Amino acid sequence: MKAKNPSASLTVMTEIVLPNDTNNLNNLFGGQLLSWMDRCAAIAAHRHCRRTVVTASVNNVSFNEAIPQGAIVTLESKVSRAFSTSMEVWVDVYMEDQRGSGKQTKCNEAIYTFVAVDDLGRPIPIPSVEPETEEEQRRYDGALRRRQLALILAGKMKPADAHELRALFLPREDA
Ligand SMILES: CC(C)(COP(=O)(O)OP(=O)(O)OC[C@H]1O[C@@H](n2cnc3c(N)ncnc32)[C@H](O)[C@@H]1OP(=O)(O)O)[C@@H](O)C(=O)NCCC(=O)NCCS
Repeated sequence: MKAKNPSASLTVMTEIVLPNDTNNLNNLFGGQLLSWMDRCAAIAAHRHCRRTVVTASVNNVSFNEAIPQGAIVTLESKVSRAFSTSMEVWVDVYMEDQRGSGKQTKCNEAIYTFVAVDDLGRPIPIPSVEPETEEEQRRYDGALRRRQLALILAGKMKPADAHELRALFLPREDA
């Protein structure tokens, strides 16, 4: 299977925060943002492998800034790394300055794992990822550690087998 660049899966979605999307502080409800992020990430995962994909885990979500009612929100997602049947997808969330320049400011991000499945829901192989930019390379490099952490938390990997993750916290075994 031919490797693909992250740009092949780029997905951009733009939404406006309506009253129905808000919490009691008139800011975007976190559950609504999670739903938008999941859709955006799922489309990127599908574009990478052109198969049916399911969300396996949400590895990280950071709600760094509240997003007020009326805001225009842009979500950008790309596959950062693929393993055998699973892939990591980053979602970057930007808010648009509506009064001045229209400049986009990053306010949130999330990292998802999707798995490609056949018609019976069984995992199937997908193309690998070849990063092109510095940011894509950084995200590609970190994906292995994040995968190990997700699998440990899901009870699917023993911490002792997570060598790259252990290397972050423990002195080198051969030192
Ligand atoms: C995700 C799913 C397909 C995995 O199936 P499974 O039988 O556990 O398959 P495996 O254990 O062989 O894992 C398949 C791949 O998923 C990855 N995976 C499984 N659980 C994971 C988790 N919690 N976090 C990250 N990756 C995970 C495995 O590492 C493996 O990746 P690889 O092939 O690239 O090495 C299955 O659990 C499922 O269908 N879950 C429901 C998905 C769903 O409905 N999502 C919508 C939200 S409710």
